[in-house]
Amino acid sequence: MPSLIRALRQLLLVAWLGLLLVAAAPAQAAFTLPPLPYPAEALEPQIDTRTMEIHHDRHHAGYVAQLNAALAQRDDLAGLSLEQLLARGRRLPEAVRNNAGGHWNHSQFWTAMAPAGDGGTPSEELLAAIKASFGSLEALQDRFSQVAAARFGSGWAWLILRPDGTLAVTSTANQDNPLMNQPGIERGTPLLGLDVWEHAYYLGYQNRRADYIAAWWSLVNWDQVNQRYAEALSPASAGPPALSPRTPDAGR
Ligand SMILES: [Fe+2]
Repeated sequence: MPSLIRALRQLLLVAWLGLLLVAAAPAQAAFTLPPLPYPAEALEPQIDTRTMEIHHDRHHAGYVAQLNAALAQRDDLAGLSLEQLLARGRRLPEAVRNNAGGHWNHSQFWTAMAPAGDGGTPSEELLAAIKASFGSLEALQDRFSQVAAARFGSGWAWLILRPDGTLAVTSTANQDNPLMNQPGIERGTPLLGLDVWEHAYYLGYQNRRADYIAAWWSLVNWDQVNQRYAEALSPASAGPPALSPRTPDAGR
């Protein structure tokens, strides 16, 4: 009988230790929706308030929620930053790739805009790089606008810093971006990205994407682009800016 009691005690001890281990395990980190850096109406009239609300509160929020849901099925990806996930590109499950891209792309999009007149101008260093790669700021804007208008279906136009130090204008489909190791994508550090999905402009511009692109130039936050360029050139830079670090979420 004493041996039965001993066995029961040991069983209870093991169960108790197990519960302690579960309770002490670090909570899975989850991605969160960053707030807009300005009121939703701040970009009027170039981008209307309702478009900003739906775009941020529903579309971007949806990418974040679906990314967290997709990652909940993949413990092997649990510790990776958003940028580390994107670098995996084609090796990612489609749901992770699409929603990680959607989260990163929109996070950079909000901060790359400012109310008209508030966004500053290209820095001396950035302007020199623009002139070296495109000839002039106007030539860059023309090239970028053409590429953005020509993107078939949904996607993004980008100004990127290539690994060789030159600048280039590129475009990606859907929610892909230049950080992805993906066939057909020119990789580089994104300095400025424009959303040309219809959800970004349809309420205000309907099918007139070219008008949306032309109006968007007055919203570009050059101070932010300057900062991204300086950080990308910094010897201490370990890669693209981490736009959305994971935060502990005890709910997962
Ligand atoms: Fe979007």
